[in-house]
Amino acid sequence: MTRRAFLSLIAALLLSSLTLQAGSAPIRARTGMVVSQSDIASQVGFQVIKSGGNAIDAAVATAFALAVTHPTAGNIGGGGFLVYREGTGAATSYDFREKAPAGATPEMWLKDGKYDFDLHHNSHRSVGVPGTVAGLHMAWKEKGTKPWKDLVQPAVVLARDGFEVSHGLARSLSGMLDEFKRYPASLAQFSRNGQPYQAGELLKQPDLARTLQRIADQGPAGFYEGETADLLEKEMKANGGLITRADLKAYQARKRDVVRGTYRGHEIIGMAPPSSGGIGVITMLNILEGYDLKANGYGSVKNLHLITESMRRAFADRAQYIGDPDFVTNIPVDRLISKEYGETLRKTISPTKASKSSPTTFTWPTESQETTHLSVVDAQRNAVSLTYTLEYGYGSRIVVPGAGFLLNNEMGDFNAGPGLTNEQGLVGTPPNLAQVGKRMLSSMSPTIVTKDGKLLMVTGSPGGRTIINTVLMTILNVIDFGMNAQEAVDAGRMHHQWLPDRLSVERFGFSADSLNALRAMGHTVSEAGGQGVAEVIVLNQKDDMLEGGMDRRAPDGGAAGK
Ligand code: DON
Repeated sequence: MTRRAFLSLIAALLLSSLTLQAGSAPIRARTGMVVSQSDIASQVGFQVIKSGGNAIDAAVATAFALAVTHPTAGNIGGGGFLVYREGTGAATSYDFREKAPAGATPEMWLKDGKYDFDLHHNSHRSVGVPGTVAGLHMAWKEKGTKPWKDLVQPAVVLARDGFEVSHGLARSLSGMLDEFKRYPASLAQFSRNGQPYQAGELLKQPDLARTLQRIADQGPAGFYEGETADLLEKEMKANGGLITRADLKAYQARKRDVVRGTYRGHEIIGMAPPSSGGIGVITMLNILEGYDLKANGYGSVKNLHLITESMRRAFADRAQYIGDPDFVTNIPVDRLISKEYGETLRKTISPTKASKSSPTTFTWPTESQETTHLSVVDAQRNAVSLTYTLEYGYGSRIVVPGAGFLLNNEMGDFNAGPGLTNEQGLVGTPPNLAQVGKRMLSSMSPTIVTKDGKLLMVTGSPGGRTIINTVLMTILNVIDFGMNAQEAVDAGRMHHQWLPDRLSVERFGFSADSLNALRAMGHTVSEAGGQGVAEVIVLNQKDDMLEGGMDRRAPDGGAAGK
């Protein structure tokens, strides 16, 4: 496709599809919808549906486009999870989480016996073997209908011919300039000769375009073998990184059974380990099912307290039990998501007093807020919930020279080292220690909700550990409070993760009276900026209409549909 043809296609789409309306009205569409953190990428995905592709085809095209237009988190050098439910009811998931390369050990973050944060989070060793290309390809191969090449090609064109830098992206790139200066290929790709891009300028990524073209032409071999693999290995070797061509060639995505729970007559379909998201959301819903949240009233102090206490408990279990199931074979998934266990946990909650998180148990290392989620539904009501990430914003900030893509720093999601749990935020519990070929524990929570055997909702968000709680709250907003998709996304959010024992609430999300009442119950409450960037689709079952909720906490997002 020529650049001109592509741009006119996008212009036509912008006119023909619906974009954000004022207030909290959702965007409505009947034939299909894509909601993501980049309007350009959503348009690319919707075009695939319009031309007869299904939700998987559209998700693949959107994900590749995001790798170009949303470089903070859209990626080919990272990993993630895709939950898929067919309109007819079958559900499955694809795990393309990064893996630890050969040479990884539980002690690899220690230098002279001491934990080294930068080695863990900001080095070539923090890069896990990327999974995105393998995962998207596996999902497409099993469920896609359009030619693979057609799904990657829009991303090739966007990278090769460039796209207009938005105010949001200009600001983000400029903020990252000093980081990029550590790596010449990163600086070259994301600045104009060392000067920040201004909004309105074209960002072209020619090396990335060539890599994407190899992926378009050769499938995963265009990434995991040949020139791309050589360039990645060279960058690793020159900088003390571990990943080799052998690690890349050996990478396999995994198809996994979804985890399933129920909530007030709805079915909840979530991601299994190595994500803690599905288990976390279902555990909390099981606890909350025992309360009449609706009667208590939206935003009531009673509800805020009960939701916080549910979060506290689910997060304690997360650290205790969950890791890569290919290595940790004793994760008690069935117990954690059972109604009986939810009831047991509920009995430990006082209706009037905050519990105390025990300082002898776990807390978690700092995590950034950069990941991205996309939700897709097609005409047959097949649905995709896909969350993927580079971990930090722009991952390791390392662009592979000559290959033009950013590498993740996902190895930072492994625990710090055996026995290193402390109150300052390190975790040393066994299930999530680094090992060769192991996947690091994740909070990403792509989720699908059904009612009476029919699709109801597709939801997910970035935000590190806050993801699980953001997803929980979007579900409560729709099921308990009857919000539409946009209202469910707009509503205030909060987060508790057991330790530190602190309830973080979005500024302007809750009244001062509510926060003071929570403090009086013993909660330590702090206010924070936006939590997550949820991208939600709700199917209004009565008139079979799709409603998109796009999160305006972040710039540049878009819901495309018609
Ligand atoms: O997999 C995880 O849980 C994290 N690496 C996700 C990081 C993240 O969400 C950062 N931000 N939005």
